[in-house]
Amino acid sequence: METTKIILPEKEIPQRWYNVQPDLPAPLAPPIHPQTGQPIGPDDLAPIFPMELIKQEVSMEPWIEIPDDVLRVYRLWRPSPLYRAHQLEEHLGTPARIYYKNESFSPPGSHKPNTAVAQAYYNKQEGVTRIATETGAGQWGSALAFGCGLFGLDCTVYMVRVSYEQKPYRRILMETWGAEVFPSPTDKTNSGRSILEKDPDTSGSLGIAISEAVEDAATHDDTKYSLGSVLNHVLLHQTIVGLEIKEQLKLAGDEANMIIGCVGGGSNFAGAAFPFVKDKLDGKDIDIIACEPTACPTLTRGVYRYDFGDTAQLTPLLKMYTLGHSFVPPPIHAGGLRYHGDAPLMCLLVNQGVIEARAFHQNPTFEAAVTFARTEGFLPAPETAHCILATIDEALKCKETGEEKCIVIAYSGHGFFDLGAYEQYLAEDLEDYEYPQEMIEEALKAVPEVAE
Ligand SMILES: Cc1ncc(COP(=O)(O)O)c(C=O)c1O
Repeated sequence: METTKIILPEKEIPQRWYNVQPDLPAPLAPPIHPQTGQPIGPDDLAPIFPMELIKQEVSMEPWIEIPDDVLRVYRLWRPSPLYRAHQLEEHLGTPARIYYKNESFSPPGSHKPNTAVAQAYYNKQEGVTRIATETGAGQWGSALAFGCGLFGLDCTVYMVRVSYEQKPYRRILMETWGAEVFPSPTDKTNSGRSILEKDPDTSGSLGIAISEAVEDAATHDDTKYSLGSVLNHVLLHQTIVGLEIKEQLKLAGDEANMIIGCVGGGSNFAGAAFPFVKDKLDGKDIDIIACEPTACPTLTRGVYRYDFGDTAQLTPLLKMYTLGHSFVPPPIHAGGLRYHGDAPLMCLLVNQGVIEARAFHQNPTFEAAVTFARTEGFLPAPETAHCILATIDEALKCKETGEEKCIVIAYSGHGFFDLGAYEQYLAEDLEDYEYPQEMIEEALKAVPEVAE
């Protein structure tokens, strides 16, 4: 009998997260204080993050224990199943073996609670009573609302206006878990007000929403800030995904030749891929492919420079691929992939040639999502659909060459709250968007000069 779901027993849930930092092929450029031009230290971050997360941010320990209270919550949906995509393989007629690690089983429906639960826990431990954050598609906001709810913390979410309007059900989900949600930019923060003065009809951006949430945390003693992607500690928490994949492939008697994931800020991709990065650096032949939208082509068309993480220039400067912190992406449906920068850890590995990046238009992306839904049954989030398209491309190449590659998809979330986007796709109402080079160059002018 063929196996479809590869399931790890609950007692084999990984007990530690994997930290890629000691294994990097080149040193990671430190975050820089925008005023002093010096690397920032723990004291600079203390007003907005709990100390334990700051320690994880800079840790050089290869393994970090997962606290029991976090594991207890993880067990609600972890270990998540690894699926063999038999129907998709048959439909494509490919000799490739395709697997997908299904993170859509978590209560909020994506990989995001892997870090949300951990972050809520560490904040609670340090006496914080409220967490402020931003959200794009609403996936991160709902994950944090869920995590805060379980640990008895208040949660304030600044939701990018275009998503707030396109996705009211995510807001209701966040409110059901007890969060308060505002469409960003708001008139509640200096950063929000200054944007609204210039452009009252702005569709918002993650960069603006981050500015608002950081300002909220920095101006309230009981409140800390939480980020759902980009930072080292967030990527660290997500590595439970890749660690489980490794165990599950062993159970299936298989070995990955390709890991393919989508990238917004880089967290789900890094979570699935980093445990395999170590193998690749140790000489194993494995392709690690990061997928992004052509409408927000950070890795494929951005520059590798220091830039702010947010529009109002409140965050430290991070060395990353960036399209410029003033970049406002078009309102495409993969709301979670509309960020001007990417995780510094992942960018370093792209820059070193360990990770390859590819960009995709939204129409073929939805076409791939529909093919997946009609073969495997699961309805992917538009973000996730990007790596499904890349996988289908690769599987069809295998069909031509006869190669029997083992391809693993980081299936980051479901698309139940994105049915409006599916409706538009099915009605042939979606437009492809290639960001014009002049506009990228214009946004890049605002990237600060930092001596390295
Ligand atoms: C389902 C899903 N996948 C991927 C992403 C991209 O984020 P990241 O790159 O941090 O994984 C998001 C972001 O909201 C998401 O909701």
